[in-house]
Amino acid sequence: MDSFENITDFVNFELRSKNEARLLRSLFPLVESQRGVIKTNGKTLVDLSSNDYLGLADHPALIEGAKKAMEKWGTGARASRLMSGDLEIHHRLESAIAALKGKEAGLLFGSGYLANTGIIPALCGRNDVIYSDHLNHASIVDGVLLSRARFYRFRHNDLNHLEDLLKSHRSRYRRALIVVESLYSMDGDLAPVSELLELRGRYGAMLMIDEAHATGVFGAKGEGIISQTGADAVDVILGTFGKALGGYGAFVAVSNRIRQFLLNQARTFIFSTALPPAVIGANLAAVKLLDEEPERRSRVCALASELRQALKKDLGLNTPSESQIVPVIVGGSRSALNLAESLRDEGFFVKAIRPPTVPEGTARIRLSVTSNHTAKDVRRLLEALSRGL
Ligand SMILES: Cc1ncc(COP(=O)(O)O)c(C=O)c1O
Repeated sequence: MDSFENITDFVNFELRSKNEARLLRSLFPLVESQRGVIKTNGKTLVDLSSNDYLGLADHPALIEGAKKAMEKWGTGARASRLMSGDLEIHHRLESAIAALKGKEAGLLFGSGYLANTGIIPALCGRNDVIYSDHLNHASIVDGVLLSRARFYRFRHNDLNHLEDLLKSHRSRYRRALIVVESLYSMDGDLAPVSELLELRGRYGAMLMIDEAHATGVFGAKGEGIISQTGADAVDVILGTFGKALGGYGAFVAVSNRIRQFLLNQARTFIFSTALPPAVIGANLAAVKLLDEEPERRSRVCALASELRQALKKDLGLNTPSESQIVPVIVGGSRSALNLAESLRDEGFFVKAIRPPTVPEGTARIRLSVTSNHTAKDVRRLLEALSRGL
């Protein structure tokens, strides 16, 4: 085993190893980002790597909402919700979320990462078992690890594997939790929600679904995917404001009793400062816009469908995507980096996604379509891809 006597040696060793494996990450400061176009390094590029699916991050209504809330309440919430940071606008946003998701109540968290790492350990502990989809986001994985529960990862969207694990182990534990995403962040495919509900009922488990990427884009009102199969039956629905809703922070939509339980039990809620007024003001405006500007949703869905079809028909590429997140899987990290670079040379800002974000051998570029894009952007992108692959 390597032994290091100081931090510099250890850090240098780790960075060298990552660099050799083509896994070194670096920051890329933008000097401007407006309506899906970014400026960096003297170049103007179409941004295909943001999660601003509805183009709300620079919408005047969100900016105005943020300004008004800040003028009334100041810049900071001053404390956690359970101290003096519990503002009336937090409750307004929670009611709006509950109505959107079709649940009794909402509860805000500082971010999606904080929501997952707070809620999962609140629901499960040492005597419990968690079943987690293999492709779940890192924040879910970290929540599972923090809970100290026994956990099993089932193969992605593989209900037979999940049921085998439930059959073998469920009865040995006090509580069981099944946790999945409704729309997977790196593959863009959907969870089989009805079947998961059925398994949850049969094996006496709790079901938690992370709708970070579906909220705002899917559903007649932007409520997400779950509503189509019955939001009522899902115990915990999680969503974030930092993606399609153009702001920051996260929420759960739950029953009144689960809300009360979580605000007493989830450590990332209890021991963290409440979201600041400006962020709440922007988030409130974004939820309202889901109703007022449904064309943003239709536009992003239509463009994404066009891209998925053309990838298959014109370039012969299979993508697992069923949504606005469209990965082009190339395998090795080096190939993904090369493709991202060639697309940048052609005017598109695209990031290579490499392990450990995705499993070994499935490095990719993740194209994310937003309502800021046009049919012309999609056509140009396809041409660039055909040259770069
Ligand atoms: C499925 C999923 N859950 C949670 C998060 C974390 O959300 P946040 O960025 O608000 O911390 C992400 C972020 O990408 C995500 O993809």
